[in-house]
This record gives sequence, structure tokens and C-alpha cells, in this order.
Amino acid sequence: MSTLTIFSSVPAQAVEAAPAVTSRPIPAVLGADLEVPVKGGRLVGYANLDYAASAPCLEPVSAAVTAALPAYSSVHRGAGYASQLTTARYEQARHTVRAFVGARPDDAVIFTRNTTDATNLLAGCLPAGTTTVVFDTEHHASLLPWKKSVRLAPPAFPGEAVRAADEALAAIDGPKLLVVTAASNVTGELWPIAALAHIAHRHGARILVDAAQLVPHRRLNLTALDLDYVAFSGHKLYAPFGAGVLVGRRDWLSDGEPYLKGGGAVRSVGDETEWHDDPEPRHEAGTPNVLGAIALAAACDALTATGWTAVVREEERLIARLRSGLASIEGVRELSLWGGDHPRVGIVSFTVDGYSAREVAEVLSSEYGIGVRDGKFCAHPFVRHLLNETDGGCEDGTASAVRASIGIGTTEEHVDRLIGALRDLVTR
Ligand SMILES: Cc1ncc(COP(=O)(O)O)c(C=O)c1O
Repeated sequence: MSTLTIFSSVPAQAVEAAPAVTSRPIPAVLGADLEVPVKGGRLVGYANLDYAASAPCLEPVSAAVTAALPAYSSVHRGAGYASQLTTARYEQARHTVRAFVGARPDDAVIFTRNTTDATNLLAGCLPAGTTTVVFDTEHHASLLPWKKSVRLAPPAFPGEAVRAADEALAAIDGPKLLVVTAASNVTGELWPIAALAHIAHRHGARILVDAAQLVPHRRLNLTALDLDYVAFSGHKLYAPFGAGVLVGRRDWLSDGEPYLKGGGAVRSVGDETEWHDDPEPRHEAGTPNVLGAIALAAACDALTATGWTAVVREEERLIARLRSGLASIEGVRELSLWGGDHPRVGIVSFTVDGYSAREVAEVLSSEYGIGVRDGKFCAHPFVRHLLNETDGGCEDGTASAVRASIGIGTTEEHVDRLIGALRDLVTR
């Protein structure tokens, strides 16, 4: 389909321009005044420290969705004005996401349900015989979708990650893909993605970066880092409306099997089916999640308009407070692959001597109104490694940790409440 031709009658001003890049105050999140019941029936303000699972909705995101709803209509299918407007908004969202990650002009931007959907989509498009190289530190979304993979042990330091990838890629013949997360969902630690991209390309491989935990916290520039693909989720980027994205080189995506087979992915159907070559229609069959895409783009716009300096400064202040508080409590141990000084985003996992992770999370919720995550965070091999466990069940409470994660809307009081609660707990 040619969006430009079909939808040229929508006036340019009907689709909101991306906001100019001037610093604005950090936007608010919905639910900042949410109250939750604790033991005894009291209501307390909710301390949401579970952003790495799903972040709350930014106000400008909610506003963008509300603004789009009155004209909500079909996408890529209708001749009516509302349909044209909705389609234009959907396609504008693609441009916004492209700019947000600094993609190359000819990169594909495919809307998916989430990061897991995006990695699986790419997995289905790899050239025959592709070997994937992946570290055991990955989230399952980036660890599991590959037909043929070489798994590398958690590296002892960042340079070791580059060395291990170098060695593994050198030993592989045929097409190869290196998959790596940019920021760990367990420790928050940042991975050396520029150096890994360089190594991958030296061996004729491509690199997919799982940016699910990076983009809510740091600016990502795909072109400057020379990445081939990035994937991330709207619901971790303050846009919980069910969209994610895969951005990257078109050729494998144009040649790959259509991810979903149905209307929109085909040019014509007769005795033979003629699929679109363009990756976007080819892999987005059916009615797309237009509100999810609009929400995702609104989050990108809001973060860009705020400017990363302010977002990062506030997050670093709070995560430093959180980590030094944890370090001051006897029996609380932070999990880390590369040591306390390694740069990280606002995610910290820890254990508490004498308590299972589940017990800690339940006490924090039921007595203090604090929301954290406990378990292995869909990164079983990595958490087992960090806890020196050789096996153990899935979410068995022993080989598990507690994770606190922060972002826009987190306050000093939330952090201090967590530290105070843990201090109380270890002295019971
Ligand atoms: C690093 C990382 N990658 C991928 C995912 C999967 O994201 P989703 O559940 O949105 O597919 C997560 C979710 O926690 C994650 O932290």
C-alpha cells in the first residue's frame, strides 16, 4: 500500500508535529497519588518501585491517546477522513520512533506487541543457517527465540564480554547474529554495546540490541552506535498501551517469512499470494495497535522534549541514595556482575539474609505499601549465576532476589521508605 498516495488528503497540520527539542520540566506520571491498603486497613501512598516490569503512564502519553480517540478509526483501510487521520497518526508515530532511536533513514520500524514479539519476529527472518551468539545474562526474550545459538557464560568484566564474543563469532561460518541487552533487567548494569557492535561487524555478523531497559533511562542512537537492530517495549517506556517496536536493517526483514499472515501483508491474492516486500506491511498484518503506537511515540516525544540530562541526573541521584541505603543494612546484599562502580540504570536487585525474596516482597507490600518484584525476573540462568546456584526451580523462593527499579515519578520518600522497611525487617 502507498500510505502517501492514499492519505495525501489529510492536511499536514492534522498530525501534530514532534515537539521542538527544548528542555521542559520532567512530566508527571498517572497514579502518583494512588493510595493502597496496608495491614490494619490504613491507606498509604503507593511507592511504586517496579518500573523495570512496567512503568506508569506519563501524563502526555495519556493526553495523546485521549486526543486521538475521538477520531479513532481504521488504519490503512478506510477512505473516510477519520480513517485517513488515524492512519497518518500511526505513520507519524513510526517517524517519531525512528528519530527517537536515531535510526538510519532506510531502517524499518515495525510495531510489535512488545520486546518479546520483536525478538521473535527477527528470529523468524534470519537467513537460513544463521547462528546466534548470546550471553547467559540475557532476559528470556533475547535468550530463547533463536533456532541455533551459541551461549556464552556471564563475562567477569566488560572487556571479557567483548573478548568472548570475538572468539565465538570467529569460530562461526555462515550468517551470524550477536544478541545483547543494553542494560540488564537484573542488575541495571550497562553493557559495552558500541564495542560489541564493532566486534560483530569485524566478523561480518549483525547485532541486535535488546533496549527494553535502556530506552526508559538513557538516550540511544542506533546510527552512532552502528547497531543493526534494536527492540523495546512501550509499557516499560511509560506508554502502557500494548505496543513495542523492532527497528533495523530492511533486507532480512524483507526476505523473511511474514510474521503474521493475513490482510495488509499482501499485495494481491489469487492462485499465488504476493506478499509485500516492505518490512512494515509485510510483518504487520491485521489491524495494528494504533493507540499503542501513538502512545509509544508520545512517550518518545515527551522524553526528548524533557531532555535526557534532567531525567538521568534525577535518576542517578535517587539510585545512589537507594544503593547506599541498601549497603548500610547488614544482611542485605546487592547483586552485581561487574562491581558496584560499573555504570548502571535505575535497577537494583538484592537478597536479604534470613528471608526469601517472596517474603521480603510480601512484607514490603502488605505493611509498607511498596511494590517491588521478586523472583528470577525472566533471566533464570543469570540470576542463578549471581546467586551461585547450580540449579533450583523456576520461582522457588530460594534462588530468587528482590528487585527495586525506579524512573520518572520516583521520589526520595519512596526510596527512604524502602530502606526504612528493610532496616525494620532485618532487626525483627
Ligand atoms: C531486558 C529485557 N528484555 C526483554 C524484556 C521483555 O519485555 P516484554 O515483556 O515487554 O516483551 C524485558 C522485560 O522485563 C526486559 O527487561
